Amino acid sequence: MFMPITKNSYFKSAGLVAFAVALLIGILAAAGFGQDPGRKVFETKCFSCHNIGGGNKQGPDLKGVTDRRSEEWLKEFIRTPTAMSRKDQDAASLFKDFAPEIMPDQSLTDEEMDSLLKTIKTLSDSGEMFTPEGAKLARPIRRSDVREGWRLFTGQKEFENGGVACSTCHGIGSFGSYGGGTLGPDLTATNIKYRDPELILILQEPNFPTMTEMFRDHKLTEEEIVQVFAYLKHSKEVSPNAAIAATTDSGAVEPRFLITGFVFTVLALVGLNFVWRKRHGNVRGDIVERSKI
Ligand code: HEC
Ligand code: HEC
Repeated sequence: MFMPITKNSYFKSAGLVAFAVALLIGILAAAGFGQDPGRKVFETKCFSCHNIGGGNKQGPDLKGVTDRRSEEWLKEFIRTPTAMSRKDQDAASLFKDFAPEIMPDQSLTDEEMDSLLKTIKTLSDSGEMFTPEGAKLARPIRRSDVREGWRLFTGQKEFENGGVACSTCHGIGSFGSYGGGTLGPDLTATNIKYRDPELILILQEPNFPTMTEMFRDHKLTEEEIVQVFAYLKHSKEVSPNAAIAATTDSGAVEPRFLITGFVFTVLALVGLNFVWRKRHGNVRGDIVERSKI
């Protein structure tokens, strides 16, 4: 049935639009502007020395610390670490482990402390790594990203915006012997050198002359950044000497690498056999020589 646009229905839909706009603003505010105060404190006062997930820096990784220590212990330690190290066994051994670094006393209000501890707990429980604003991945890493990142890195899959494959200039671990470039530094365990957010920033805005030039008009997409990052991170977690590039989603080694490994093993055995035969000959020769005397 046809409904004429009466004044009444016009106002109704205008009201609806206004409501939708208000809702949107509300969601945006909740997501962005009402930033978790604990994150803010951590980013400005603790992040330079501590990760939450992502490994030790100057100080220990704080992932799970809210489960390891009691709330009272944490509050006292964070405010007065040095004083506490003189009377508390756990604090003392931390100081020993991380010497010569010393955590400075942190003056936090009660609210800051509470929201900080809540943030650490939330991130630890969800397994999410703390990243400062700006240097964030667009989404959490999935298992398949390591492989996709490897395909991007090696040029098997092209970058959407036409960036040059990383392997043109970089080798990574054993993969280097598969034709990885040598113009840029080997990136095995790059993550050990760079903290995660720093690495993400490099992928967003590389600050090295050659790379800046190459990627200025060919930026990686957010999705590609997640994948290449996942791959580089994986290269740290696996032993730097392992065939990093060869691992697939399931952690299984690709047939190509197995075959190469097999060929090398056979070659090595043949070579070893050859050497040993010669030695045998020499030993026997020595004995023969000696028995002559
Ligand atoms: C200048 C570097 C630095 C800063 C800044 C810093 N810390 Fe630390 N933190 C350390 C070091 C180093 C240790 C190990 C103990 C020591 O040697 O002082 C430590 C230890 C800790 C521990 C004990 C961890 C455990 O495993 O029990 C907690 C908790 C902690 N810091 C929280 C914080 C918080 C929260 C902030 C920010 C409000 C912060 N730290 C700022 C360097 C720092
Ligand atoms: C045209 C060659 C080239 C390409 C392509 C390239 N890089 Fe680089 N990259 C370099 C050079 C050269 C450096 C070293 C710059 C310096 O030390 O000043 C570098 C440095 C780096 C570093 C810092 C390494 C360190 O040890 O300090 C990272 C990380 C990195 N590149 C990642 C990548 C990734 C990921 C890609 C692919 C998306 C890529 N690069 C593509 C040339 C390249």
